[in-house]
Amino acid sequence: MYKYTIDSGYTIQGNNKLNGSVNISGSKNASLPLMVASILTDEDVVLNNIPNLLDVQVLIRILSKLGKDISYENDRMVIKSNGDLCSEAPYELVKKMRGSIIVLGPLLAKRKCCKVSYPGGCAFGPRPIDLHIKGIEALGASVNMEGGYINAEATSLVGTTMNLSGEFGPTVLGTDNIMMAATLASGKTIIEGAASEPECTDLANMLVQMGAKISGIGTNRLEIDGVSKLGGIEYTVIPDRIEAGTYLAMAASSRSKITLNSVCSTHLEKVISLLKDMGCVIETSENSILIDASKNELKPFNVETLPYPEFPTDLQSIFTALATSINGVSEIKESVFPDRFTHIAELNRMGSDIKLHETTIIINGGKPMTGADVQASDLRAGAALLVAAVVAKGISNVHRIYHIERGYEKMETKMRSIGVNIVKKEDDIL
Ligand code: EPU
Repeated sequence: MYKYTIDSGYTIQGNNKLNGSVNISGSKNASLPLMVASILTDEDVVLNNIPNLLDVQVLIRILSKLGKDISYENDRMVIKSNGDLCSEAPYELVKKMRGSIIVLGPLLAKRKCCKVSYPGGCAFGPRPIDLHIKGIEALGASVNMEGGYINAEATSLVGTTMNLSGEFGPTVLGTDNIMMAATLASGKTIIEGAASEPECTDLANMLVQMGAKISGIGTNRLEIDGVSKLGGIEYTVIPDRIEAGTYLAMAASSRSKITLNSVCSTHLEKVISLLKDMGCVIETSENSILIDASKNELKPFNVETLPYPEFPTDLQSIFTALATSINGVSEIKESVFPDRFTHIAELNRMGSDIKLHETTIIINGGKPMTGADVQASDLRAGAALLVAAVVAKGISNVHRIYHIERGYEKMETKMRSIGVNIVKKEDDIL
C-alpha cells in the first residue's frame, strides 16, 4: 500500500487538454452512513459500489473494532455480525475521520449505551455536533461529555418531534444519526429541518429496504415510525456527485470535452445549470454527462453555497479554482461552512487574484497561473489545487495528498486516463 508522508504528492505538468471519459465512483458521503447502518441489524449487509478510499478504510477499522466482520473486494463489501457489538468508538480511530460521529445514533439504538470519542474540529472550522446531541437527547438519551468522550445512554428511545436545523441550515450527518436511531425507537419521530442531500436520501432508502418505516424521504421533514428490528440487505450506493462535479470543473477550466459515466445528473442540476450559464455545452443521459467547454468563451459567475438542492459547499473550493481560469470577476458566497477558505492562499501562490470579503470569495479571473509547490489542507481544498494545476503553466507539486485520497478514488489514474500529465510521488521533498 502507498505510504503517506507529509511530503507525499502529485506532480502535474500543466497546460493539459482533457479528452475521453471517466467513470464516477460510488459516493463517499453516502457509503459511510450506509456502512454504519449495519450496526442496526444482526443480519448481513452487502454493499455494492463502495469506493476504496482512506475514509472507507478507517470506517472498516471502526466497525471491526465494534464487532463486525467485514470483507471488501472490488467495490463490494460484506458486513456480518459477530456476536454482541462493543459500544465504544475509541479516539485513535475517530480522530482519523470526523464523520465517524454517525456511529453514535445507531450504537445507542442497538446497545442503549455508547461511548464515542468527540470528533473535534477540522481544517475548515470547529465542526460542532450540538445538533446531533440535541437529537439523541430529544429521543430520551442522557448525554455527558467526559475525557474527550461522549457518553450516551437510554433505557429506551422514544419518538418525538424535533427540529434539527441550526444556524447554517440542516445537518447532513446529524440527520443520518437521528434517523438511524429513530428507526428502532418506540413510536413516531418527526425530524423537521432535516437535510435532504442525496446521501441522506440514499441512507433512508436503504433503511426502508431493511424494514424501517420512513416517509418524507428527500424532503426537509422526515417521519419515522419505530420498528422492533431491522433485517439484512444488499444495496448499491449512489454515484459520487462531488467527484463528478470535480471532473466537470476540471474539464471546464481546461476548455475540454469529456464524458462522465456511472453518474447521476439529477443530483447535479444546480451545478450543471451553472456550467451551462458559463457557456459550457452539456448533454445528460440517464447515467452519463458530456461536457464540452471548448465551444464558447466562458463567462464569470456568481453563486452561493447552500444545502441541497442548491450549489454544494463541497464544490466551493473547486469552482473557485475554475473561476481563476475565466476572464472577469466571479463571486462565490460560502453559506454552509463560514471558515472553508484555506485553498485561497494556496491558489494565490499559483498566481491567482482571489480575495475574501466576509464569506464571499471574489475571484478576479484570467490571471496567468503558474505551477508551484502547494499543499492540500483538506479534501476539497486539495481537489481545487489539482483543478488549478491541470491548467497552470509549468509543473505543480501538490503535497499532503492523503487529504485528497480520503475522498477521491484512483484520482491519479483517472486524471491520467483523461489526458492529464500526472504522477504520484512518495516522499518528494519541498
Ligand atoms: N452544524 C452545527 N451543529 C451540528 C452539526 C452541524 O452547527 O451539530 C453546522 C456545521 O458547522 C455547518 C452546517 O451545520 O455549518 C452543516 O454541517 P453538516 O452537519 O451538514 O456537515 P456534516 O454532516 O458534518 C457532511 C459531509 C461534508 C459536507 C457537509 C455539508 C460527510 C461525511 N460529510 O458533513 O462533506 O460538506 O455534509 O454538505 O458526509 C466533504 O466530503 O469534503 C465534506 C466535508
